[in-house]
Amino acid sequence: MSASTDLPAKFDPSDPASFANPYPGLARLREHDPLHFDPHLRAWFVTRYDDNKALTQNLALSSDRLRPFFGSLADDRRRDIASIIRYLSRWMVFTDPPEHTRLRKLASSAFGVRRMNAMGPLIERRVHRLLDGLQGRREIDFIAEFAGPLPALVIMDMLGVPEAELARVKALSDRVALFIGSARLTPDKYAVAEAATRELADYFLGLVAARRGHPTQDLVSDLIAARDPENGDALTDDELVATCILLLFAGHETTTSLLSGGLLALLAFPEQIERLRAQPALAADAVEEFLRYDGPNLSQARVVAEPVELHGKTMKPGERVFLMLAAANRDPAVFERPDELDIACERAPHLAFGWGRHICLGFPLARLEATIAFPALLARWPAITRATDTLDWHASMVFRGVSAMPLQLDWHAGHRGRPHQRQ
Ligand code: HEM
Repeated sequence: MSASTDLPAKFDPSDPASFANPYPGLARLREHDPLHFDPHLRAWFVTRYDDNKALTQNLALSSDRLRPFFGSLADDRRRDIASIIRYLSRWMVFTDPPEHTRLRKLASSAFGVRRMNAMGPLIERRVHRLLDGLQGRREIDFIAEFAGPLPALVIMDMLGVPEAELARVKALSDRVALFIGSARLTPDKYAVAEAATRELADYFLGLVAARRGHPTQDLVSDLIAARDPENGDALTDDELVATCILLLFAGHETTTSLLSGGLLALLAFPEQIERLRAQPALAADAVEEFLRYDGPNLSQARVVAEPVELHGKTMKPGERVFLMLAAANRDPAVFERPDELDIACERAPHLAFGWGRHICLGFPLARLEATIAFPALLARWPAITRATDTLDWHASMVFRGVSAMPLQLDWHAGHRGRPHQRQ
């Protein structure tokens, strides 16, 4: 066998197997071609930890990747996605300073420690109600029946959206996702995402109008009241609606994948699941390790604003860049035994929430949800087994996760789930 055939195939976004298990292919890029140009996507992949960390802070890489795309469309195409353009251009995640600084500052003021403290008991209640609803069931779909609804309910609680709206609001948010994260070709995906954005915007416009008249304890009321102490600046109605849609969207799909990815990782390392069962106080550390080992974001996307030199190559203005967080989080230069899950290992900070000015705004909430959920579900389910070896992984460059996760639950103590393939 030649040396080259001993190497794993490099990460290739045109191959679904690369999404099922990206790690060997990313490891090959990280070692041999740390700034790789992918001919299929015509984009750069950055795979080393230090490079990723440095580039998230480099203003030569812009987050404003939608406006150039919107600008390139013909007028009639722009009209077809008018709501997407109107609201998504106001998402802080797609803006650069100074616009980003302003939007983030106003939104953060409504997203602080006080609110997180208030969320703890609410999350506990949601977790236990979902688990009560599953009591005694021997087969469940972990995504549809726990990991999906929990973060959606929590973010809806936070925004003040009634529980009765769960199915509708979640379906709409999933349709907006078609525009953002999906690499799969859905012929009418823009039309579906546009209709969903319009419906969500109408919903939140109504909520904003209601809360302007009668503020409550919810996040929408806080976002309306948020002011820059220096100049009294506030979010406009369009920005309020855009921020609500962003929080709804960003707040659940990723956390769903943290819950499912964390459980998949534990099932692949049975000694770790036993450790967490025995020491539930390790939950917060375990969650950090789930995020590092197989986090919900494969990458974060950027567009080159000014030339950037790296590893003897030049990224040129207009080119797309994927900062491969999943590859950075397994970089052996930073993490010992990076391909092993070790829930009590002291490690360098992972990059699963990004880094720098766009670091996830909602990370305290995601951490809190998972830290409450894991001990609770392990206490209820003495044995957990995957009901299938094959999983349908999202074919997305940005979002990593599975669409379904059938589990067999044994409610009798003593039986142990069998280990599954490690990644
Ligand atoms: C485990 C769950 C989560 C993960 C792994 C995650 C990951 C990320 C990452 C990687 C970014 C940076 C994106 C970029 O710069 O392109 C980000 C940004 C963001 N996230 Fe999260 N996120 C999670 C949960 C949440 C939750 C629960 C919320 C809100 C309730 C949230 C709200 C946001 C917002 C608003 C931004 C934009 C921040 C900015 O641009 O300044 N995220 N997240």
